[in-house]
Amino acid sequence: MRLTILGGGGFRVPLVYGALLTDRVEGRVTEVVLHDVDAGRLSAVTRVLAEQAAEVTDAPAVRATTDLDEALRGADFVFSAIRVGGLAGRAEDERVALAEGVLGQETVGAGGIAYGLRTVPVAVDIARRAARLAPDAWVINFTNPAGLVTEAMSRHLGDRVIGICDSPVGLGRRIARVLGVPPGDAWIDYVGLNHLGWVRGLRHAGRDLLPRLLGDPELLGSFEEGRLFGPEWLRSLGAIPNEYLHYYYFNREAVEAYQRAEKTRGAFLRDQQAAFYEGLNDPAAPALAAWNRTRAEREATYMAENREAAGAGEREEDDLSGGYEKVALALMRAIARDERATLILNVRNQGVLSVLDADAVIEVPCLVDANGAHPVAVDPLPGHATGLVCAVKAVEREVLTAAESGSRAAAVKAFALHPLVDSVNVAHRLVEGYTRVHPGLAYLG
Ligand code: G6P
Ligand code: MN
Repeated sequence: MRLTILGGGGFRVPLVYGALLTDRVEGRVTEVVLHDVDAGRLSAVTRVLAEQAAEVTDAPAVRATTDLDEALRGADFVFSAIRVGGLAGRAEDERVALAEGVLGQETVGAGGIAYGLRTVPVAVDIARRAARLAPDAWVINFTNPAGLVTEAMSRHLGDRVIGICDSPVGLGRRIARVLGVPPGDAWIDYVGLNHLGWVRGLRHAGRDLLPRLLGDPELLGSFEEGRLFGPEWLRSLGAIPNEYLHYYYFNREAVEAYQRAEKTRGAFLRDQQAAFYEGLNDPAAPALAAWNRTRAEREATYMAENREAAGAGEREEDDLSGGYEKVALALMRAIARDERATLILNVRNQGVLSVLDADAVIEVPCLVDANGAHPVAVDPLPGHATGLVCAVKAVEREVLTAAESGSRAAAVKAFALHPLVDSVNVAHRLVEGYTRVHPGLAYLG
């Protein structure tokens, strides 16, 4: 079986390859094709993978190419993990937004809109090519903003594109752990959009254990989201939000912490990764060791500004291991081998949230088998959450319109309608600022 990874020179590719190396079962991936627009990054990552495979028998063969069509042809699965504009672009997304006093995070608020505006046209081009050159392939979208990008691709690939994120899985795992339940045995009642969802219940042996957690401040203080949001607010909500909701519920503090930071997240990663790739220009440099070091530092500083704003302290050891490669592998296995699995994924709504239309991509538990991902019916969201979900989906739709038509007015509207952008004038200036720094936005007339 052949897996093609777009963004194959990306820093997190070794995580995926590491997961593939643990898969010994019949029907596993035997061939990996890496595609990237940057040949230098491809060769750096290829070296890391070679070191990972050194001790492993029958490791999947790896091939790298800068030809997109060649990479797509013959693929059974395509992982799309691209970053249009690179990490330098991410840092610009943050800088322009913060100069206007609004959030520049890569998936939430103004930064997410800017990133979406330049990513959607590229993702749509990939989707069109995949539909033509690999019509039977399953496309798994990792590219952020993942919900929006998956929806853009689904207009060309239908249900053959599935978006993934590790944050709901991580949240479910943490809640199960503090409640003393093996995560695999629990039903996590979660729904929303990507980076905008809520856990409303955790069922085990026929009982909802979430009320026990919400009623116990000590338990609530013992895991990441509990510390981030505080026991009192979680009790008021009656749910545990995805960590990215911190940018909404504590927006002022998050923006201030970002403004105070010596470097924004994007700028930190831009410099950190530049050093990593540059280091591998030396052919004698041990690639895997450098990658491991860089990765540990990246994980430890994840959402550091939010944790600082909340006084939440350091990340826990268990939370440092990421996990999105595990979600991707579990999804691929379930489809390829028809092994039923339940995973929280980004798929078309199909009536699950009645306030959204059938084609709106949402994040929801799905049953997965050889026929794809089938969203499970869930209880409706309460009014306040429905309001946020609808507002942000309307913003995403404006981004899709702007990307499709090149309409600058639609781009302004996307920013202006976002709950975290507080003036239409700010929206105008954001479009000005972003089009000035991003060549990828030249299409906005
Ligand atoms: C989480 C999010 C991803 C994001 C990743 C890395 O896993 O769900 O969407 O890409 O963190 O964030 P970072 O700030 O390290 O790029
Ligand atoms: Mn994510």
